[in-house]
Amino acid sequence: MTEAFAGDAGERERLAVRPLTAADDDALHALMLERWGSTRMVSRGRVWEIPDLPGFVAERSEGWISYGHYRVEGDSCEVVMLDSPRPGHGGASAVLAAIADTARAAGCRRLWLITTNDNLHALGFYQRLGFALSALLRDAVTEARRTLKPEIGLIGENGIPIRDEIELELLL
Ligand SMILES: CC(C)(COP(=O)(O)OP(=O)(O)OC[C@H]1O[C@@H](n2cnc3c(N)ncnc32)[C@H](O)[C@@H]1OP(=O)(O)O)[C@@H](O)C(=O)NCCC(=O)NCCS
Repeated sequence: MTEAFAGDAGERERLAVRPLTAADDDALHALMLERWGSTRMVSRGRVWEIPDLPGFVAERSEGWISYGHYRVEGDSCEVVMLDSPRPGHGGASAVLAAIADTARAAGCRRLWLITTNDNLHALGFYQRLGFALSALLRDAVTEARRTLKPEIGLIGENGIPIRDEIELELLL
């Protein structure tokens, strides 16, 4: 675990982080449909069927705290999905740390992800973990909604129209 992911170690120790397996498929599908209305995510003009990607879950006795999925391409690893059914317990930080460790072991030099312009909470969360803004894809969500994923909502967090993709990266 890198310094970037340092936090409340006491509570984090009680989180178990493990790779997702085929045995988790039903739970993952149900959770994603409940929380997102879809198992598909779009980034940079590509559609990803999340259950097809490798991922990790952080869990405690009460259930899943956070889960995340990634894909490795060349020397970069994209975090395609990160979601916390029970936020504020260090779950997303722990899942990101597991993905970063895996990416490093696979020889990656860069961890990156896409969030949307409305997601002010995520923009703060990632930057506090050491990520930096690396690209703005203006109107990318508008285009994805038109051509790839019509179920993307029009209005996001804080009443902000969802229009743009914002890329963040962490050098490993
Ligand atoms: C953004 C999101 C993934 C963060 O997940 P989370 O599980 O709440 O994240 P963490 O608990 O690791 O960290 C959140 C905060 O809790 C704090 N925290 C609380 N308890 C903690 C603990 N035991 N250990 C570490 N951090 C803890 C962290 O410091 C962090 O503070 P910050 O938001 O001021 O940076 C979550 O809000 C979410 O699911 N949002 C909806 C989906 C989404 O936006 N995903 C990202 C889109 S790309």
